[in-house]
Amino acid sequence: MMNMQQVFLNGEFLPPDQAKVSVFDRGFVFGDGVYEVIPAFSGRLFRLPQHLARLESSLAAIRMRNPYGVAEWDAIFTRLMQANGTADQSIYLQITRGVAPRDHAFPPNATPTVFAYAQPLKYPPAEQLAEGVAAVTAEDIRWRRCDIKAIALLANALLRQQAIDQGAVEAILMRDDFVTEGAASNIFIVRGDRLITPPKGPFILPGVTRDLVVEIARAHKIDCDELPVSAEMLRAADEIWLTSSTKEILPITRLDGRPVGGGRPGPWHARLFALYKEYKRAFIAGQAN
Ligand code: PDD
Repeated sequence: MMNMQQVFLNGEFLPPDQAKVSVFDRGFVFGDGVYEVIPAFSGRLFRLPQHLARLESSLAAIRMRNPYGVAEWDAIFTRLMQANGTADQSIYLQITRGVAPRDHAFPPNATPTVFAYAQPLKYPPAEQLAEGVAAVTAEDIRWRRCDIKAIALLANALLRQQAIDQGAVEAILMRDDFVTEGAASNIFIVRGDRLITPPKGPFILPGVTRDLVVEIARAHKIDCDELPVSAEMLRAADEIWLTSSTKEILPITRLDGRPVGGGRPGPWHARLFALYKEYKRAFIAGQAN
């Protein structure tokens, strides 16, 4: 199955086929839990404090406590990564409300189920970076707490599959004619010499990669606004990108079957992606946090 030596489950490091969870786990029965995906480059956990801060707010939003502190999480992730050698990796971690008889109300004394594993990071194929990818717009059918990184991803899975069925890589989600985010990514557009990304709030996940792109742009005096992006602005954009921890910054060159801008990855993507890679190199060398 998956080429991993060990997974972490409830305090233990186990081979995946020995890691077992109850069928009455609320994660299984209700999707009652939260997760994180953290990339690690050359063995270094990228933006760990930011990912753990988001985990903390996801947990607070579903009224759960974080079972571990930063140092403990760091030790768990580091041990999980060791088995996989030096390749870039992604860490998946999820925490559910635990095992209890089925009842929507919170169980009074359940122990959270904590699961984590590391796997080699699958970057987008070189061709997707060189040519860009296709995206389609879709109505954002999700709930009003998309800021919580919830494991209940049925709507996201349906929306992503809708994109795949139309020969696209991602769905750009629209709520009341404004862009929220991708099915599993955040969205940026370029208008002239300005970058624009939708503002944070209950309808989008506050992406760690999104925040980093905003931070890098501003550090280099590039105009970057967090403003509502209408369907009209999306259609008229010179460039569209998606961002996520695993896809980094990927150009979208076709939208609903029509070319975006010139139909090729644009100059602003080249510039921001170069700055992002420079930042990543500095981070690996211990010169950036
Ligand atoms: N998803 N929005 C949604 C709905 C996401 O699922 C993700 C990431 C993002 C980007 O967030 P970040 O830059 O922090 O990765 C935005 C992860 C990678 C996943 O579910 O696999």
